[in-house]
Amino acid sequence: MKILIATDKPFAKIAVDGIRKEVEAAGYELALLEKYTEKQQLLDAVADANAVIIRSDIIDAEVLAAAKNLKIVVRAGAGYDNVDLDAATKADVCVMNTPGQNANAVAELALGMMIYAVRNMFNGTSGTELLGKKLGIHAYGNVGRNVARIAKGFGMEVYAFDPFCPDEVIEKDGVKPLASAEELYSTCQVVSLHIPATAETKNSINFELLNKMPKGALLANTARKEVINEADMEKLFEARADFKYVTDIMPSNHEAMSKYADRYFSTPKKMGAQTAEANINAGIAAAKQIVDFFQTGNEKFRVNKK
Ligand code: 3PG
Repeated sequence: MKILIATDKPFAKIAVDGIRKEVEAAGYELALLEKYTEKQQLLDAVADANAVIIRSDIIDAEVLAAAKNLKIVVRAGAGYDNVDLDAATKADVCVMNTPGQNANAVAELALGMMIYAVRNMFNGTSGTELLGKKLGIHAYGNVGRNVARIAKGFGMEVYAFDPFCPDEVIEKDGVKPLASAEELYSTCQVVSLHIPATAETKNSINFELLNKMPKGALLANTARKEVINEADMEKLFEARADFKYVTDIMPSNHEAMSKYADRYFSTPKKMGAQTAEANINAGIAAAKQIVDFFQTGNEKFRVNKK
């Protein structure tokens, strides 16, 4: 049985060592493809793999067709918008994620980026503090919950909107649930985005919604660039000199946005989950899920239809 780690953005070495231990303890073989530059390298590497561990790596119909022996793909992380789920189902490949395993790392970065923004990108001028500010968490999943926990430590007043999460769950954390995205954005000076990129959410963070935010608004995006209406974001930056945007996913209009260097920042490469701890947690969970899938048929974290 051959398990391939295919990561354009590599895990920390300690995580790869941990994955290897799990894989070899089960009597399987580990193959490693890191920092690949051409899709062909991925197509070649999957050719004889029975399982693949990926991060934001694209698994489309072409990759699935090249992977004749493939039975399972585990996205070591939360979002699986990089995998063609229908094509995987057709190819009889099980797709899983590892929910929650990298959530704290992403949440810590979200707060770090907020501080960077309110301190004027560390440019030496006088900024503001997070204490007492209203923070809106858009989607109360694993990352959102960790953001709430940390933000409360900063003394922020925390609100959340999540149509899929019961109010009681949000309230139990000392967070105030709001009934709509409109209410969240008009209430909170700082909004932290944690919605997945789906057909419904793509481009949904638009001018109308963002313009509801109070004066001195800050949007922190550690989710996906696709959920932002980028043309609207430019329009908003022109209309509102008080608006700040920090993102861990470089937008397609990064160059145009870069003229607002005092209130726009993007990491050069998504690094929310780039910690040794997150790599270990997500990578080893992925390896364990694969071993369990082959040994017992466990499909608990399956995200595609059968
Ligand atoms: C996720 O969906 O888990 C995060 O966006 C992290 O993605 P990455 O593994 O590509 O850094």
